[in-house]
Amino acid sequence: MEIAPFDKRDGFIWLNGSFVPWNDAKCHIITQGMHYASSVFEGERAYKGKIFKSEEHTKRLFKSAEIIGIKIPFTPDEINEAKVELIKKMNFEDCYVRPIAWRGSQQMGLSTSKADINVAIAVWDDWASYFKIEDRKAGIKLITSPWKRPSPDTAPCEAKASGPYVICTMSKEFAEKKGYHDALMLDYRGYVAEGTGANIFFVKGNDVHTPIPDCFLNGITRQTVIEMLRNDGLTVEEKYIQPNEISKYEEAFLTGTAAEITPIQSIDDIKFDTGEDSKTYKFMQDFHNLVRS
Ligand SMILES: Cc1ncc(COP(=O)(O)O)c(C=O)c1O
Repeated sequence: MEIAPFDKRDGFIWLNGSFVPWNDAKCHIITQGMHYASSVFEGERAYKGKIFKSEEHTKRLFKSAEIIGIKIPFTPDEINEAKVELIKKMNFEDCYVRPIAWRGSQQMGLSTSKADINVAIAVWDDWASYFKIEDRKAGIKLITSPWKRPSPDTAPCEAKASGPYVICTMSKEFAEKKGYHDALMLDYRGYVAEGTGANIFFVKGNDVHTPIPDCFLNGITRQTVIEMLRNDGLTVEEKYIQPNEISKYEEAFLTGTAAEITPIQSIDDIKFDTGEDSKTYKFMQDFHNLVRS
């Protein structure tokens, strides 16, 4: 499907408290957030018109903002209401929701004492998945990125802040140029961390392992999937995983708001089971039902 450019669309964007026509929702070239990456954002999904874990996402948006020193000039309730109204105004059932807060144009440079804070929310319904649906069915191929997740005292790893995403973008580009769908990122110690925009899980028998999120986002989908699998009687262990341990697992998958549950076919030369007989396939179906229930 041809995706319309994101600066030329119909509908509305919620910008600083008002609904403005989509194509008029602009900011100036001299914007602190664009030059120095002072911005935080969320990625959410609505299913059948209702945002999954809306309040958790808003909570994380405010926490991310606080971590990087941004004071959002709205209350969490106002953001939650704006999201609901916007989805209604856009007439969407299933869609992706993108709130963002950034330092504006009032002040330039690294000093931020006088900076104005802007907030916007956009929704769109043509992101079927972070990965194409046919790739998701077959499972995606990952290559290990040369870029690492930094230590928590180097980057604000608990914040969904734009700055650190350049590492993810470089890793994703590295993978795609080599013909892979995504990259596996290791952390600054060399442990397995996550994908470029999603958390990672491994399966062996009834045991499910996932890395400890001490230097990357503890995704809301990750937490949901852990709970879902434990309720289903599986053992889920959060542990440090070395790259040379990956080959002992039978299956692997990514989790994230955009990626939902995406099976992994291979990481570098290591192959995993995928398809309708796999455990991951069942997890995908259970997750599909959970978010729509
Ligand atoms: C780098 C990164 N890790 C993990 C996740 C998964 O987070 P969530 O499940 O809250 O969408 C995301 C997506 O937001 C991400 O961008």
